[in-house]
Amino acid sequence: MPDRYAVIGNPVSHSKSPAIHAAFALATGQDLTYEAILAPLDGFRAKVDSFRAAGGKGANVTLPFKLEAFDLAAASTERARAAHAVNTLSFDADAVRGDNTDGIGLIRDIETNLGVEIAGKRVLVMGAGGAARGVLGPLLERRPASLALANRTPDKAIELAARFATQGHVIGSGYGALSGSRFDIVINATSASLAGDLPPLAASVFVAGALAYDMMYGSGPTLFLRWASEQGVTHLADGLGMLVEQAAESFFVWRAVRPDTAPVIAMLRAH
Ligand code: ATR
Repeated sequence: MPDRYAVIGNPVSHSKSPAIHAAFALATGQDLTYEAILAPLDGFRAKVDSFRAAGGKGANVTLPFKLEAFDLAAASTERARAAHAVNTLSFDADAVRGDNTDGIGLIRDIETNLGVEIAGKRVLVMGAGGAARGVLGPLLERRPASLALANRTPDKAIELAARFATQGHVIGSGYGALSGSRFDIVINATSASLAGDLPPLAASVFVAGALAYDMMYGSGPTLFLRWASEQGVTHLADGLGMLVEQAAESFFVWRAVRPDTAPVIAMLRAH
């Protein structure tokens, strides 16, 4: 019997994780299956329990359950605790362990796939929700020159920045306070595009050669990337690479085998 894994979310039918993990398993010769499980909004824990009881070995957790997964895990890694969110559960014989691979997924995509070093760079993260929180620790570990966190509701950015203050130079603010600041890497971690909206960012924030990165992805360039392109930014990336990299790290957590991500990113882009 192959080992069973799954992604649990709501909604989940659009998830690319089953295709990604199937490709990893095939390429590495790992005998496993990976399915998508829809959990009712008030029924996450029950779905985890039933999947585990049915022999599941681990699960990815996606929106809106990453916080519940953190609460559910009996033990969590340091990076999951810093993110206060879990996207990777491992079911051991006696306990459920929680991990978070989103941050390292973003770092690998920026540094390895896009070839942009974070060390010494001025980095701006837009948004102060779960998506932003999950990547701040790993970004600070790469020793940027500075890390600015801007949010529509400034207090949330200020509060979040304060939580990471011991890990590096991080400043939270509203968008207005960015006037005059310039950044080498600008990361959109807001959900504004879901409402067909853009964070209110001044075009002057990009230095020449800046990277504009959207943690979201879609069938074409995201609204933020289209806007950045109109402002003259040429180095643009959506979150598809991050998605595959976080999946690869989860696969490594479960199987102790690191799959090659480039062919899988190429496969998804081709679709
Ligand atoms: P997630 O877990 O995906 O980060 P979230 O916790 O709901 O989701 O956070 C969404 C983030 O996107 C927040 O930072 C939110 O700003 P507020 O804190 O001011 O709500 C940001 N966001 C959502 N819509 C936005 C918009 N139209 N313009 C700017 N920021 C927006």
